[in-house]
Amino acid sequence: MRRGLPVVVAGVLLVAVGAPAQETGIVPVATVRQLCEGMITSSSDALFNVGREAPDDDDDWRAVLHNALMLAEAGNLLMLEGRARDDGEWMTMSRALVDAGITAVRAVEVRDVDALLGAGDEIVVACETCHVPYRDGGLSMPVR
Ligand code: HEC
Repeated sequence: MRRGLPVVVAGVLLVAVGAPAQETGIVPVATVRQLCEGMITSSSDALFNVGREAPDDDDDWRAVLHNALMLAEAGNLLMLEGRARDDGEWMTMSRALVDAGITAVRAVEVRDVDALLGAGDEIVVACETCHVPYRDGGLSMPVR
């Protein structure tokens, strides 16, 4: 019995060291691909579609607002530990998606379709800037 004690103590210490990472309670569930396909593509498409069919009542604008907010927040989700690919460029590029989403939110708030289409251009750049290095390994067309 006495010989077993130090092992038990060491085990308790290991658990204590591992604990802080779990304290936030955040559990990434979707993969980056699922996030991109499920949440990011549908919300950005809804914003791009404004060019073809402009929102014309309060319900339409509210729906566009929700998509802009969802896209901006998806940028934050890309930055979560366990999903982020690194601490540098990945974070900057995810942040660019948040910022492009915020530009879209501002445009929706003043119901400015042209500004929303401008935000759409910013969003496309944010997608491709990340896809070139992280998804396609530089094989797709570079962003101009
Ligand atoms: C910060 C990086 C990042 C941003 C920003 C980003 N993506 Fe992605 N996306 C990825 C990565 C990495 C993959 C590949 C994931 C995998 O296969 O594991 C991916 C995959 C995809 C896929 C899956 C299909 C495929 O061809 O692999 C789609 C669709 C997609 N992204 C759309 C978008 C759109 C639209 C935007 C912008 C509105 C966007 N993404 C923004 C990193 C990003």
